[in-house]
Amino acid sequence: MINYFIISGNQNVTESIKKLLYYERKFAKTFYHIEELRDFISVDDYGVLYIVESNSYDLYEVSGDISLEYPNLKVILIDKLENIDYKKAMYVGATDIINVDFSEEEWKQALVKAESIIEMKMEDFEKKSDKKQGRIITVASTKGGIGKTTLSVNLGVSLAQRNVKVVIVDLDLQFGDVPLLLDLQPKQTIYEWLKESYENGDGKVTPYLTSDKKSNITILSAPTLPEFAELITGEHITNIFNQLQKDFDVIIVDTPPSFVETSLVALENADDILLITSLDLPSLKNGKLAMDTFKLLEFKDKVKIILNRETPMDGMDAETVESILGQKMEASIPSDYKTVISSINLGVPFVLGASKTAVAKGVEKLINQLMTEKEPKKKKDKKRFAFRRKKNNKL
Ligand SMILES: Nc1ncnc2c1ncn2[C@@H]1O[C@H](COP(=O)(O)OP(=O)(O)OP(=O)(O)O)[C@@H](O)[C@H]1O
Ligand SMILES: [Mg+2]
Repeated sequence: MINYFIISGNQNVTESIKKLLYYERKFAKTFYHIEELRDFISVDDYGVLYIVESNSYDLYEVSGDISLEYPNLKVILIDKLENIDYKKAMYVGATDIINVDFSEEEWKQALVKAESIIEMKMEDFEKKSDKKQGRIITVASTKGGIGKTTLSVNLGVSLAQRNVKVVIVDLDLQFGDVPLLLDLQPKQTIYEWLKESYENGDGKVTPYLTSDKKSNITILSAPTLPEFAELITGEHITNIFNQLQKDFDVIIVDTPPSFVETSLVALENADDILLITSLDLPSLKNGKLAMDTFKLLEFKDKVKIILNRETPMDGMDAETVESILGQKMEASIPSDYKTVISSINLGVPFVLGASKTAVAKGVEKLINQLMTEKEPKKKKDKKRFAFRRKKNNKL
């Protein structure tokens, strides 16, 4: 169903739009400010949104924010003739821009355009949801302590706040600490699944997941003892992914700081690989090695580079990172030791407990980018590489 919304402080324009919609048996809900709209709609609602110029907000800025946050809303801007800037309107994701003194024909044209885009998106979505396949986002680095777990958990929780069904798979099978960051003590882990269900039962993974009510997130924990990690193979992980993809929209996979068989399966199956790096030479050296490996395995076109703990530094900046790794960065997350450490100590991810901080906003921005991509890069026709190495041996 297509919804109709208006953000406006101009009563006359609001009434005109409402009247024209009414002639078509369509009804619009009006808001005075973007915040009211945010409280009312959910991220996957489809709709046409009119934003009428006002002194109390910047038309173009609001359009930019809305287009990022609500990809299923198509925005029509209504501005004073002398202020209309088509290029800027397009740049901020608006479908069309019309004059406050619009003619009925002009108004209708803009509406038809927006509606037809939404209808196409809805058809697309229906086709896809017939065979639901959750998106796998694998968070990786070849250097330890770089922020993989911190970002995996905060990305997952932040997505879950947007009503996306998310599961985090803790593939740091020896030293996984995803539950710690969420203040959870799971009784069931991937090890119990293997022993009770995979080897001796129906193989279903759902009973072995742990859900957290506060953050609305689900996790599959790593074994409680490091020695159990050896028992988990790539085949088990493929089986788990196949099941989770049917039930979840997004599967975030946290990995250990080295490429072992199980993490390679997570990289191979990923729609997106987030390669985490930071502004120091060892991280960059290892990042470069990781990029070379990804190239070799033909994963490179789904890699997104995330710079974590960005802080102004002599002789090292984002451009240096890009030139060493040979790719543009997707996002950068600022350094904020105090916020990150206290969120870990409290067991409350900073996107929940300190959502106004720059580090939380960095994560939100990254999600907006990931989620507004039209389509995650298609998995390549699998040029499978053999796992002949001994289990969990490093590459
Ligand atoms: N943006 C940030 N600003 C400040 N500190 C950070 C940031 N991101 C992570 N940290 C800190 O860095 C440390 C390592 O983070 P984390 O455990 O997430 O890394 P990791 O890559 O998962 O490590 P490992 O490879 O050991 O699993 C933690 O103490 C965390 O608090
Ligand atoms: Mg970790």
